[in-house]
Amino acid sequence: MADKLFVTTALPYANGPFHIGHIMEYIQADIWVRFQRMQGHQVHFVGADDAHGAPIMLKAEAEGISPQDLVGRIAAGRPRYLQGFHISFDHWHSTDSPENVALSQDVYRRLKAAGLIYSKAIEQFYDPVKGMFLPDRYIKGECPNCHSKDQYGDACEVCSTVYAPTDLIEPYSVLTRAKPVLKSSEHLFFRLSDPKCVDFLNDWTTTPGRLQPQVANKAREWLSGKGEQALGDWDISRDAPYFGIPIPDAPGKYFYVWLDAPIGYLASLQSYFASGKARANGEPRSFEQFLTAPETKQIHFIGKDIIYFHTLFWPAMLKFAGPPYKVPDNVYVHGFITVSGEKMSKSRGTGISPLRYLDIGMNPEWLRYYIAAKLNANVEDLDFNPDDFVARINSDLVGKYVNIASRAANFITRHFEGALAYGGGTEALRQEAADIAQQVRDSYQGREFGRAMREIMARADRINQEFDARQPWVLAKDPARRADLQDACSRALYGFKLLSVLLAPVLPEVAARVARELFGLGRPFQWSDALEPPQRIAAYQHLMTRVDPKQLDALFESEAAPAASKTAGAEAARAGAAASSASRESPATMSPTPPPASSAASISIDEFKRLDLRVARIVTAEHVTGADKLLKLTLDLGAETRTVFAGIKSAYDPATLTGRLTIMVANLAPRKMKFGVSEGMVLAASNESGGPYLLSPDSGATPGMRVS
Ligand code: 2FM
Ligand code: ZN
Repeated sequence: MADKLFVTTALPYANGPFHIGHIMEYIQADIWVRFQRMQGHQVHFVGADDAHGAPIMLKAEAEGISPQDLVGRIAAGRPRYLQGFHISFDHWHSTDSPENVALSQDVYRRLKAAGLIYSKAIEQFYDPVKGMFLPDRYIKGECPNCHSKDQYGDACEVCSTVYAPTDLIEPYSVLTRAKPVLKSSEHLFFRLSDPKCVDFLNDWTTTPGRLQPQVANKAREWLSGKGEQALGDWDISRDAPYFGIPIPDAPGKYFYVWLDAPIGYLASLQSYFASGKARANGEPRSFEQFLTAPETKQIHFIGKDIIYFHTLFWPAMLKFAGPPYKVPDNVYVHGFITVSGEKMSKSRGTGISPLRYLDIGMNPEWLRYYIAAKLNANVEDLDFNPDDFVARINSDLVGKYVNIASRAANFITRHFEGALAYGGGTEALRQEAADIAQQVRDSYQGREFGRAMREIMARADRINQEFDARQPWVLAKDPARRADLQDACSRALYGFKLLSVLLAPVLPEVAARVARELFGLGRPFQWSDALEPPQRIAAYQHLMTRVDPKQLDALFESEAAPAASKTAGAEAARAGAAASSASRESPATMSPTPPPASSAASISIDEFKRLDLRVARIVTAEHVTGADKLLKLTLDLGAETRTVFAGIKSAYDPATLTGRLTIMVANLAPRKMKFGVSEGMVLAASNESGGPYLLSPDSGATPGMRVS
């Protein structure tokens, strides 16, 4: 029986655009999904925005809009990325949806009926000025261990000690800087420690083939913990004000975002069924019938930071909610993406902006191939290295793969009007193709994409070698060896067709063009096409260009500096003042001459609103070894900390900056600089006669406040 696959990726928080870590996960899942579709399996691949929680509520409040508007704005930006990188979700939804409200409340009621929910009063820090309980990340203070200032309420970033917010010395609310007070409130708990949950999870996590070995080991550690490490019950409620789903029969209480987030997978699936798209995709049954069918497989792709939620809470919730809910069949975990060895920040990504990648005209299939070539089935981090990227694309995709078609097709078009012919028949060729297709199929199935790419490229090498050994350019000059020439080129082109089929999950656009334009197929490739030697081709059309290393420079360079050196006036006008950041390191921009205000093109209020200007406190200011003009600033933005490299060294002694408030552009895409990643820009004024002068807000302003 063909499998029916329900596949998801982790739902991204709807408080910011996708970063490269999201795109990597989507590419991984998309390759696997496309491979399954090519095998003839029915796949329903869905995603959604993870809309709820305190950070989204507070961000919306700071922007003066409703959380729904914020989520709507973020959602509107999603298709550009998804289409841009050819991610073939069948449906995209939101956890802030009627389906998710109904499903979350239903799951909760069933868990309650199963005796797994209880209520208990807990004491938590409360911000008396803001009138809300504070999540750990919204409380800061002095680390009780190493005494570093301004550490978060859950762990110290300096000495890595993990503690409770109540352990902090002189704690303060990052929202108002008020001293938090301890306040008691009733919370609802999911009894994960119940023996029936533990028994079930022991079984579920050890089912062969369900989890990667490293993930199963991690889950086993959690499940077998004793004493302090023992499996704890899960606090699933939050008090108002909170942006979330109301808990039935518990006025003023909402589900913690992590309860309704994974249920969002099902909400998206349900909305997809309701839209009629499931039917169009070959599934005539209802959402409930589909979920309970034995051949349905539920598969989640996630990152390594959210294993706990997906291998303990989520399966236990589903199990004890009962049918039609079904427990996941597989949870596939990947590592993080690093860029030239540097870790990325979950909220702000890395130095690679996916949108910039697309905007500067880089080919999305290059990135898909690069990621595929570096992925395996383990929970390992993947490093994006610019030099390696250029080398792999140019050598593998252009030098080995595309090259075969461009060379062989030209002979066939010129000498044989597109007709292929194989001396000695095609049986042996088909058998060889079947063998490699089987190998590559196993690699894809096991998510060993790197191995699949190596197998494919080894075959490409062989096809090129065999073609070269036949010396077609010599054969073409000898009319007596016409049949030889046709055979050599036909074999190469069959090889190219085979490679195109095998690469189709990774290069869907190129493969679709090859199928349509070169081989005249009226549909995209299916896996079985690998076993069909082509009989005719149309004229070859250019398929893929090489990567120009300059494109990588453009991808990583600061947005402002090169533009400013070309059009200093326009750039200065764009910034509104001599803005100081790492991007101002170049001499041309260190002494900008702002044009008279009147020469700046006018912008609409909506354009202005796209700038997220925030009050920031300079927590530390340091010299940067090797930089003439930069200072490294650590900025407190209330809910988070940023690092910004600012070109203000000529005017400021770092010691005088610590503790002062300034204004920063908080939504500038992070930029990888020689000295590290700069995560924004502080604003300063200057002209020929002086500056830069850092801007300061009036007294009363606090970190994180929006400037408008
Ligand atoms: O860690 C995150 O980004 C979460 N928004 C992932 C949620 S996955 C699922 F449970 F919704
Ligand atoms: Zn510490």
